[in-house]
Amino acid sequence: MTIDAEPLLRVRDLRVSFQLDEGTVRAVDGVSFDVFPRQVVGIVGESGCGKSVTMRAVLQLIDPPGRITGGEITYRQNGRPIDLARVSPRSRQMRDLRGAEVALIPQEPMAAFSPVHTVGAQIIEAIMLHERLGRGEARARTVELFRDVGISMAEQRVDAYSWQLSGGLRQRAMIAMALSCRPRLLIADEPTTAIDVTTQAQILALLRELQQKYDTAIIFITHDLGVIAQMANYVVVMYLGRVMEEGPVDEIFHAPKHPYTRALLRSIPSLQTETRAALPVIAGTLPHPFNRPPGCPFHPRCEDIRRGYCDVAVPALHALGPRRAVSCFLHSDAAEPA
Ligand SMILES: Nc1ncnc2c1ncn2[C@@H]1O[C@H](COP(=O)(O)OP(=O)(O)OP(=O)(O)O)[C@@H](O)[C@H]1O
Ligand SMILES: [Mg+2]
Repeated sequence: MTIDAEPLLRVRDLRVSFQLDEGTVRAVDGVSFDVFPRQVVGIVGESGCGKSVTMRAVLQLIDPPGRITGGEITYRQNGRPIDLARVSPRSRQMRDLRGAEVALIPQEPMAAFSPVHTVGAQIIEAIMLHERLGRGEARARTVELFRDVGISMAEQRVDAYSWQLSGGLRQRAMIAMALSCRPRLLIADEPTTAIDVTTQAQILALLRELQQKYDTAIIFITHDLGVIAQMANYVVVMYLGRVMEEGPVDEIFHAPKHPYTRALLRSIPSLQTETRAALPVIAGTLPHPFNRPPGCPFHPRCEDIRRGYCDVAVPALHALGPRRAVSCFLHSDAAEPA
């Protein structure tokens, strides 16, 4: 695959905190990654590591008590860089970007649609808002999208309410909604967790097909390393709000550098077994969000810990090559400035 020189999305040192009565949760604590046009980037990491919060931050969808506290989110719109971290969440510019440039398939399927309007009406509204299309044309495109995503009886089903659709159909309708304004970047946050294995396979095939058809870049969030292997060209491994390692999918699977990535891969059950939906269990427990360990967030569970380094300083994300990086003192002595 040819890679464009300039990333479509460039996230640098992103930080998002939730200020609660009990303390501050540093949900995203210095995340950096790139997404190039037409690339499929898989994001993997245990529950609570900040995958959804990172993606919601990209779209300025963090609600109080959450706040972006630092970093840059550079999106290139027609070649022109915009720092989304500095665009006001309710501004016209942000509303225009959402859906038309960057679209999200949210993790909670029910959250995507309002229960009081039909699914079709909501998609038609979105198309009319972003593009100068009349209602008839917008409806025709919606029906075509429903067909594209494999919804049978598309003409009738555009007039259904989301709660009238089965889980699989709702998921497909969400994909149709996300693609309705032909975004250049689609963020799919665990789009197949709530559905059965057969439908899941169909939806993954569908996303791949649509990605080719519309040349969309995709950020694909999942717990399932099998899905990553199947879908992604590039992988970002997250742990406790930080990037542990990133690289092309075959390098992550065949030559993982970070002890966390290695632990994940070692504990992966056979890809044929039924139980591969959840991320495999690795030794030790995830620290409480209020109680981040000092140093490398993974050091309390790490088999290769270097005492005096890993428990003291935070390793910086260190480039190993043009599109390969790891944050681990086994591979670099660089610590992040305090
Ligand atoms: N509204 C909120 N208020 C307080 N803390 C929150 C809120 N939303 C997320 N967090 C915290 O931010 C951290 C990251 O959450 P996030 O939802 O991004 O995790 P995730 O990686 O998407 O997990 P999962 O795989 O379970 O979806 C967690 O510690 C979570 O408790
Ligand atoms: Mg999530």
